[in-house]
Amino acid sequence: MPDFEMRQREESLAERPPLLEVKGLSTWFPVGRTLFGKVKHWTKAVDDISFTVREGETLGLVGESGCGKTTLSRTLLRLVEPTQGTIRYRGKDLLAMSARELRDMRKHIQIIFQDPYSSLNPRMTVGQAILEPMQVHGLYNNDKERRERVLQLLEKVQLLPEHYDRYPHEFSGGQRQRIVIARALALNPEFIICDESVSALDVSVQAQVLNLLRDLQREFNFTYIFISHNLSVVHFMSDTMMVMQKERSRKWGRRRRCTIVRRRLIPGN
Ligand SMILES: Nc1ncnc2c1ncn2[C@@H]1O[C@H](COP(=O)(O)OP(=O)(O)O)[C@@H](O)[C@H]1O
Ligand SMILES: [Mg+2]
Repeated sequence: MPDFEMRQREESLAERPPLLEVKGLSTWFPVGRTLFGKVKHWTKAVDDISFTVREGETLGLVGESGCGKTTLSRTLLRLVEPTQGTIRYRGKDLLAMSARELRDMRKHIQIIFQDPYSSLNPRMTVGQAILEPMQVHGLYNNDKERRERVLQLLEKVQLLPEHYDRYPHEFSGGQRQRIVIARALALNPEFIICDESVSALDVSVQAQVLNLLRDLQREFNFTYIFISHNLSVVHFMSDTMMVMQKERSRKWGRRRRCTIVRRRLIPGN
């Protein structure tokens, strides 16, 4: 991106309202218990992390394997419960939401995981896979309308109408990740967490998928948290970057804490 465009984007992002505000968030897992059921010590997968993501912004999250990136993204969706801290989504306290509100919120936030092989059901056609979440959430009036929408989505991720009736094994890794992206888009989300979304792909294919994600952001104004252990991938994608680190304790010889060590505006890509 040329410099002036970069600056423009920074300025316009700074004016937008925060979509997600995280303060002092920790997610600890108990490790081992004494005879009396007391926790011996904790794996502090996420420890006292604070950040804000504005509408339309891409926050990059980079850090070595095992530093707590996936735990953080699962905590944001309340797939795991945090130990302490607050999460606000559009100003609403996510930790105080009822089951119903939470289900609604999960329509707006989607996660795209690393492995397109395990995230697609091999016995479901591509069309069914993309249509299913729309059915579950009762989007559109009937299957005919949903099918129309699936065809549009296939086009958005540069796949063809004839792919609708094919099965996942007939596709390459890059194509499967496009299918997974189309399925994530099916519920018209506004916030997408990409957790190592391109890490399993060949480098040349990675670039195609990254460009697709960026184009989709321009078109739909998505907000992203983009997670990778690969610094150059995060650098390419992000407006702002956060680095998580694991620290080892002398006593246990294992990780004790993950902290954000740096958050900065990235100069032009
Ligand atoms: N459900 C769990 N129970 C216990 N420990 C867990 C659980 N999930 C993750 N961990 C631990 O938390 C740490 C962070 O894992 P993870 O969030 O997957 O890191 P990353 O995604 O950065 O590779 C690891 O030490 C992992 O073993
Ligand atoms: Mg992970």
